[in-house]
Amino acid sequence: MPNPTHIQGVAFSSLAEEFGTPLYIYDGAKIVSQVKTLQEAFAAVPLKIKYATKALSNINVLKLIRKAGAGIDAVSIEEARLGMLVGFEASEIMYTPSGVDFSEIQEAVDLGIMINLDSLPLMERFGQTYGGTLEACIRINPHIMAGGNLKISVGHKESKFGISIEQLPEILQLVEKYRLNIVGLHIHTGSDILDAEVFLRGGNVLFEAAMQFPNLKFLDFGGGFKVAYKPQDVATDVMEVGKAVGAAFQEFCKKYGRQLELWLEPGKFLVSEAGFLLVKSTVVKPTPSVTFVGVDSGLNHLIRPMMYDAYHSVYNLSNPEGKKEKYNVVGYICETDTIASHRELNEVKEGDLLVIKNAGAYGYSMSSNYNSRLRPAEVLIWEGKARLIRRREEFEDLIRHQEIHEF
Ligand code: LLP
Repeated sequence: MPNPTHIQGVAFSSLAEEFGTPLYIYDGAKIVSQVKTLQEAFAAVPLKIKYATKALSNINVLKLIRKAGAGIDAVSIEEARLGMLVGFEASEIMYTPSGVDFSEIQEAVDLGIMINLDSLPLMERFGQTYGGTLEACIRINPHIMAGGNLKISVGHKESKFGISIEQLPEILQLVEKYRLNIVGLHIHTGSDILDAEVFLRGGNVLFEAAMQFPNLKFLDFGGGFKVAYKPQDVATDVMEVGKAVGAAFQEFCKKYGRQLELWLEPGKFLVSEAGFLLVKSTVVKPTPSVTFVGVDSGLNHLIRPMMYDAYHSVYNLSNPEGKKEKYNVVGYICETDTIASHRELNEVKEGDLLVIKNAGAYGYSMSSNYNSRLRPAEVLIWEGKARLIRRREEFEDLIRHQEIHEF
């Protein structure tokens, strides 16, 4: 696929002029169409999509997700509140905490949101506090090693997430002790998972455990579909996963004796490819080893290359016909924040606009003020019009919460 220069007729270059760089740009139509694709892939089962809010949590994006018919998965009380703010019903939100203070659980319960219980101590405290009055879900750690790299593999035996499947007897004791009303079981094994087989293996763990829970309404398979980051990357074939997992799920429902809902929690699949980070080259610096292109952004805006050695495609928007040269594209942060290493780009000059692809998921949402740098603006393209959905930070934002003392 050629490198995009426009979204819905809106040129990246005009966005740079209007909003400046660095700039996060999102294609709203792509987000909505990804939701539809997933709905189609799982059309054979009663599907509920719970978008993994953490991937990109701008409230306008959440609104689009809602419009497309999905709910959300929240991993902090703040994400849950963002969801409520844009009009999700409490019943459309699942709260999947990881070792949070119990006050957050109480806050979510007060909002009417279902809790995904993530540890035996939490189950105990939840039972002591609420008994069987509330519907709840249990996050199982299925002991499956899956995902693009160890940092994003979260369903294996040594992961902090979920309650080990080997602890099922203890889970059942607590359910019994407090008469807990468990209506869902959940797994999430990791991110960047290519094969349907991994989802099927996870499903088998869920199916086996589910036979011990008579009141279930849903099984949640988590997220983790792989998207293509490198040009040669193969993405998860969600049609294939939908077919294979859907069939296994329907068979299980027969055995279980009741039709359950199948829940999914995609993050990357819905928003990764819809997002672009537009940056400007500030220096082209030849050295005896490589030529560096410095840009007006860095790990403070997109940490994935540094944190996961993630690959993001980069192209030169300003010189599409130029001859290919090899560069290291680096950020302006006082760290070795390499965005792209030994990459062929059309010849780059100072002031050229570069586009970083797959920036929709875990881009802005993982950004920071490191080096006292400001976060970029975010623009959403919807129905052929660019809408500023978050202003660029200003210097005042850096000191807004600092108390100034005299010494
Ligand atoms: N559900 C749960 C419980 C999760 O923890 C996650 C991601 C998801 C769903 C969504 O996974 P996705 O479909 O986006 O792969 N920051 C990392 C990804 C790890 C996110 C953690 N959990 C990255 O940029 O690669």
